[in-house]
Amino acid sequence: MSQSSVARRSAFQEPPVALEDDAARRVRFFDYHPTQADVREEVLQGLEQCPKRLPPKLFYDQHGSRLFDAITELPEYYPTRTEIAILREHGPEMADRLGRENVLIELGSGSSLKIQTLLAVLEPAVYVPVDISKEHLLESAHALAARFPKLSIRAACADYSGPFRLPLEPGWSRLAAFFPGSSIGNFDPPDARRLLERVAAVLGPGGKLLIGVDLRKDTQILNAAYNDAQGVTADFNLNLLTRINRELGADFDLDAYAHKAFFDDRKGRIEMHLVSLADQVVRVAGQTIRFGRGETIHTESSYKYAIADFQGLARDAGYTSEQVWTDPGELFSVHCLRVNA
Ligand code: AVJ
Repeated sequence: MSQSSVARRSAFQEPPVALEDDAARRVRFFDYHPTQADVREEVLQGLEQCPKRLPPKLFYDQHGSRLFDAITELPEYYPTRTEIAILREHGPEMADRLGRENVLIELGSGSSLKIQTLLAVLEPAVYVPVDISKEHLLESAHALAARFPKLSIRAACADYSGPFRLPLEPGWSRLAAFFPGSSIGNFDPPDARRLLERVAAVLGPGGKLLIGVDLRKDTQILNAAYNDAQGVTADFNLNLLTRINRELGADFDLDAYAHKAFFDDRKGRIEMHLVSLADQVVRVAGQTIRFGRGETIHTESSYKYAIADFQGLARDAGYTSEQVWTDPGELFSVHCLRVNA
């Protein structure tokens, strides 16, 4: 054994602080987050529309990301645990489908829980988590670096609902992407298609995308998942107003709005709204916004797909569906899509 390998070996026996330093060195952070001015613009624009709307990406401030994590553990909220079960069950097969690419991109990485199953089997050299929630992203990236001692992480805080940048090096060609959680369901189908097209452009011909998609099912199950008994989803929805109050100096009265969520069978989507409980006037970033009693702000859509319908959308966006995995109850699906040549 050479001197240097002995030295390297003993470095592993140093106190855990040294390991953490090493983990920190393997994380690089890229901030492409929209500016406060962008947020102000989007909020005012949404509230001036009729019907009023706010984009769901605004849910994910620090507190909102925590609330979302709490949602994923609710008994009524089946998607997260079902998707994780599918990933655990079929992880090695999924890895074979994806190929042992050396750069793995994840959109909407959140707390980076689901990716761990894939990282363990795929062993990419570089992991590129992309999320709009900065603190959450950083925290998860550091925890992950400590867990995967050979992995380099390039974390990008970015809004992928429009054209977005990724911290990729020009020479990197063997890319794969993971888009879990059925976050694609937040997009109206034309926007979902455009997002899938942008991902295809990043991956290039032959590139693989592994994507989680929530399925159509009994309306009662769907309604319960977005109207939990503990009211965490209501808090998550209302936190949007708290955030706007804080960041844009607005004066929403939190007691004067209520959470509302329902499945619209014709549109194939859950709609979440904040209902104004009174006629009221609110100041937002220097503007006056009027609400009638019963008027709502549409804060989120969450589309639920039949497998064939999602495959049709993927086809329109330039992919071929390679394989689909579901749970025994057919609640949730994970698709491996290949970008067409
Ligand atoms: C993370 C967007 C997939 O639509 O189910 C959970 C967000 N909203 N409960 C979903 C959410 C209300 C979630 N996505």
